Amino acid sequence: MKRFENQVAVITGAANGIGKACAQRFAQEGAFVACLDVTDELNQAIAEEVRSLGAGAIALHCDVTDPESIKTAIDTVMEKWGRVDILVASAGIYTGSPLVEVSLNQWSRLIDINLTGVFLTNQAVAPIMMKQRSGSIINISSMAGKTSWPASAEYSASKSGVIGLTRSVAMELAPYGATVNAVCPGNTLTDMVRGVAGKVGAMDGMTGEEWLQMRANDCPMKRLAEPWEMAGVCAFLASEDSRYLTGQAIEVDGGMVMS
Ligand SMILES: NC(=O)c1ccc[n+]([C@@H]2O[C@H](COP(=O)([O-])OP(=O)(O)OC[C@H]3O[C@@H](n4cnc5c(N)ncnc54)[C@H](O)[C@@H]3O)[C@@H](O)[C@H]2O)c1
Repeated sequence: MKRFENQVAVITGAANGIGKACAQRFAQEGAFVACLDVTDELNQAIAEEVRSLGAGAIALHCDVTDPESIKTAIDTVMEKWGRVDILVASAGIYTGSPLVEVSLNQWSRLIDINLTGVFLTNQAVAPIMMKQRSGSIINISSMAGKTSWPASAEYSASKSGVIGLTRSVAMELAPYGATVNAVCPGNTLTDMVRGVAGKVGAMDGMTGEEWLQMRANDCPMKRLAEPWEMAGVCAFLASEDSRYLTGQAIEVDGGMVMS
């Protein structure tokens, strides 16, 4: 099914993980895809792959903490395709340490990328969607935005912040026919979660693999997610089937937060 023919999708954090899966999914469903990331070589490779799946793709260097970098990327998208129908704000990092060890630099860097980056990219595309009187913004939060655990204060704060931001932007864009939602993934098998597994597992005296297995056992569905399972929900949130759904933060976590 080609639900996004003639539509333009902008994906931040497209070079890896969930962003990459979204770039692939939107391309498979016919969209023009702009891949935004700071990791240029990988991003070029994804855009190359995505180009062969869909209508077209470009890789753009974009640091989501830098308003000028975002403006340049969005201006390039507008010059090339003249519209933005979908934004998936997936760029993010994880750092986690016991509270007393979190330096102000660590806190600020994570908040800059995970929260300010979502604010800035939403702000950059909102006027375009308001003018078009259509559009879908999908902000990638986390189950950590809905619940918390020790040694992740900055991550949890950033992801709860994304949910609050999403609700407010949703209310501003609703009269213009644009929807704004957050997706709250559970543990999803990407480079990020493998890095977390190694680090957090070591704190608990486990290998990364053991930690991932423990997380899978904790989950009602007894497994971790694959990135394409997040992309499928993002595609639904950008589709005609979800036009009356806005301001929501949807847990895509195999029932983890619920339990
Ligand atoms: N993997 C999980 O288990 C999981 C769970 C919940 C939420 N999330 C969230 O999903 C999103 C994607 O995570 P992932 O697992 O795919 O991670 P990932 O590390 O695989 O990919 C993240 C991408 O973001 C890019 N990025 C980092 N800083 C950037 C910046 N300043 N500007 C532009 N791009 C930047 C990286 O280069 C990378 O390509 C993140 O926001 C993450 O917090 C992931």
